Amino acid sequence: MDPIVDLDFIDNRTPEQAAACDTKVTEETNTGKTRKLYIESYGCQMNFSDSEIVSSIMFEQGFDTTSDIEQADLVFLNTCSIREKAEQTVRNRLGQINYYKKKKPEMMVGVLGCMAERLKKSLLEEEKIVDLVVGPDAYRDLPNLINEVDGGQKAVNVLLSREETYADINPIRLNSNGVSAFVSIMRGCDNMCSFCVVPFTRGRERSRDAYSIVREAEALVAQGYKEVTLLGQNVDSYKWASEDGSESVNFAQLLEKVALVDPNLRVRFSTSHPKDITDEVLYTMKKYDNICKYIHLPAQSGNSRVLELMNRTYDREWYLNRVDAIRSILGEDCGISSDMIAGFCTETEVEHQDTLTLMDYVQYDYSYMFFYSERPGTLAARKLEDDIPLEVKKRRLAEIIEKQRETSLNRNKRDVGRVHKVLVEGFSKKSNEQLSGRNDQNKVVIFDKKHYKKGDYVNVFVHDCSVGTLFGEAVD
Ligand code: SAH
Ligand code: SF4
Ligand code: F3S
Repeated sequence: MDPIVDLDFIDNRTPEQAAACDTKVTEETNTGKTRKLYIESYGCQMNFSDSEIVSSIMFEQGFDTTSDIEQADLVFLNTCSIREKAEQTVRNRLGQINYYKKKKPEMMVGVLGCMAERLKKSLLEEEKIVDLVVGPDAYRDLPNLINEVDGGQKAVNVLLSREETYADINPIRLNSNGVSAFVSIMRGCDNMCSFCVVPFTRGRERSRDAYSIVREAEALVAQGYKEVTLLGQNVDSYKWASEDGSESVNFAQLLEKVALVDPNLRVRFSTSHPKDITDEVLYTMKKYDNICKYIHLPAQSGNSRVLELMNRTYDREWYLNRVDAIRSILGEDCGISSDMIAGFCTETEVEHQDTLTLMDYVQYDYSYMFFYSERPGTLAARKLEDDIPLEVKKRRLAEIIEKQRETSLNRNKRDVGRVHKVLVEGFSKKSNEQLSGRNDQNKVVIFDKKHYKKGDYVNVFVHDCSVGTLFGEAVD
């Protein structure tokens, strides 16, 4: 898939991730329940995973999911606050939903997720069509809140929790192709990067019971799934201890437990924080063939002064040292991707160049790239001036995107002429005669279908590539 460049964001997601982020419900439960829920998700994979938990809670309350908003008795938008544009998208969508609500006044509209948490009950005043506002730690209260709305009131619960992990809730897999599933392993974030709203919208960091994660992976295998992605804002700081304190599990140990569930289950994870990723994690990845050799390791900037202002707690040297450790323990082929922010407060041209040279050094397979968007209440908004003009931010971002296209192509060319083990996720976007899947390094591979099907592992000889995709032929 070629990336779509729109100057705020480069879309280098796999078709799978892109489909998940298509914001529509992809699976209908259709079990004959009396009421119907339509849910759209925005933002990161955590939100998509949360929507599956919400659907499960609502299913117990007598709601089937529907992919047709006109059928819905209840519409949920699970929202993101990470950049101003993300919030604007949701506000525009609420405007469109107003049209459906006019046709069907009894339809309830709820805003969930990070925007709900950030704006709290002011959302009810600003957006008249909204009936309920529910933060990410309050989904167990949804049945009560719905009752309040049924009784003619508006309802709000934005309490954050130090314990909630929804460990016992069995998600309804809305965003899945039956091959690959998301599993949340922790919630919240304690890092306080100065640009970031997540610690305010998601609360304190907490890790989920290791054994409930393993049980979920086992259940997925029993249902035929072939891949799990362990999700958290900062998976390397995962830390869980049993109640009696006799056992504690760090991220490397958790990875090992999940890898041991089934050698045919691929294990992925996201996101790794450069300050926390340990050699122990890298050696665990090396030890198990089914842990994918791919690490999302957001740098944000290549300049140490900017990193300090961002409160990332590592500098350029530390970051490069971690990259060297990855290359020496896991080899040159290990996939590495990043997130980059262009035009953070006070960033100079020379400092921006440091980001480009870091990208040259690391040779990322792909990146998610943004220009800085000030978020109210964050450390940067309170302490620093958002002083880089928008045109400059956009020009720097365009240079970062250009650099990434170069390195993506370099990296993909290395893959040409080799055989890759691909897990098939479905048909390619362009043709039902071709299949699409990902290799170990998370790259999309397209090849003629022959007798292969979704869920198969296929050895594919890659003969060609573009910036975002490898093209090949199945070999037996
Ligand atoms: N926990 C992950 C990031 C989650 S947010 C980590 O620490 O790497 C996803 C990405 O959005 C961030 O990595 C950052 O690149 C971007 N982002 C976050 N806040 C932003 C802001 N205010 N403006 C622009 N981009 C932002
Ligand atoms: Fe935000 Fe930093 Fe936490 Fe990532 S680690 S979610 S960027 S505060
Ligand atoms: Fe957005 Fe919240 Fe995720 S702000 S990126 S949905 S944690």
